[in-house]
Amino acid sequence: MTAPPTCIGIIGAGNISSTYLEADRKFKNIYITKLADIDMNRAQVRAERYAKQAATVDELLADPEITIVVNLTVPAAHAPVALQALEAGKHVYNEKPLATTREDAQRMLALAKSKGLRIGGAPDTFLGGGLQTCRRLLDEGAIGQPVIAFARMLSCGMESWHPNPEFFFKPGGGPMFDMGPYYLTALVTLLGPARRVSGMTRITHPERTIASQPLYGKKIIVETPTLVSGLIEFGNGTIANIVTTFDVAEGYDIGLTLYGTAGTLQCPDPNGFGGPVRLKRKGDQDWRDVGIQHKWVTNSRGLGVADMAAAIQEGRPHRASAELTYHVLDLMHAFHDSAREGRHVALESTCDRPAPLPPDWP
Ligand SMILES: NC(=O)c1ccc[n+]([C@@H]2O[C@H](COP(=O)([O-])OP(=O)(O)OC[C@H]3O[C@@H](n4cnc5c(N)ncnc54)[C@H](O)[C@@H]3O)[C@@H](O)[C@H]2O)c1
Repeated sequence: MTAPPTCIGIIGAGNISSTYLEADRKFKNIYITKLADIDMNRAQVRAERYAKQAATVDELLADPEITIVVNLTVPAAHAPVALQALEAGKHVYNEKPLATTREDAQRMLALAKSKGLRIGGAPDTFLGGGLQTCRRLLDEGAIGQPVIAFARMLSCGMESWHPNPEFFFKPGGGPMFDMGPYYLTALVTLLGPARRVSGMTRITHPERTIASQPLYGKKIIVETPTLVSGLIEFGNGTIANIVTTFDVAEGYDIGLTLYGTAGTLQCPDPNGFGGPVRLKRKGDQDWRDVGIQHKWVTNSRGLGVADMAAAIQEGRPHRASAELTYHVLDLMHAFHDSAREGRHVALESTCDRPAPLPPDWP
């Protein structure tokens, strides 16, 4: 007998909510009923467009039908909103980063544990066909033993296009907390948990000017590093080099490449679900495009929530887990700690690699 779909409430009706509001068209094991925002007008406009009910946060949390709260608020509100939802007895799935501080995230994890509730967190792009294909290739030994990984996200910043870009330049924002989760989640799910890191950071432009509407011309005082460069030593011995920045003229230059003893793997954009996946084995003259057999290759945000809903029903671990997102948060802080203190930082957190997603799931 098929279980009834799990009811979802979304808090945060901003830019990214439009993608999540379509998730129940793709994933039949979930359905979204209510949408809340601190700005009721915004919730009403979005809810109407997607045929959902607008609600206040309190109304949404009081709805007994809602099992999972998807928290799409700004990073500074991730922990307070998640704690409120957990107190109301809801499982929580947060957009990235899990919280802005380790302490807030630990409070969330402890509260969830004491109440027998689950926490999940973005990104879920590692469940897409592209990165799942990379996972299969690595597990099959296609590049032998991984030796070194390079991850880069070089951009000119968000103030040119995002309607409300200020939070990207405040504590909890910055290129590492904003984009790092995609690269780090990909690396951790491919290579396993990290052991220690070192980092260097800088702020190239202390002030930025918004060039998008409706806040065109408004100045932003930058309060967090906008270039973060880190070295990671993974538990399996692989070393990775990651650079994230909002400070360069280049619009958007990204990459994730894994070099091993028997070959090299070019991974796709970890902020996407599809390919290309390119492999060059030792002795090959050219790169080979590896076909993707997995189902989710277009923008499938919500896949992590759908997997979490299924996992709750089936009594198994969900893949975009609290431990994984906390380990990624710990890594991001550790780069900044290392830069500030001039030392390697050993990580206190760890996580299991989530199980691969079957190619035809669900
Ligand atoms: N925009 C993107 O392309 C994108 C992509 C992936 C992930 N994300 C992540 O999604 C989250 C939201 O990003 P966004 O771009 O949609 O931001 P946004 O600023 O457009 O929207 C955030 C919404 O949260 C609401 N909000 C803030 N505090 C709240 C509170 N305490 N209670 C209820 N509502 C509250 C705001 O009113 C706003 O409507 C961020 O964590 C971001 O990192 C964004």
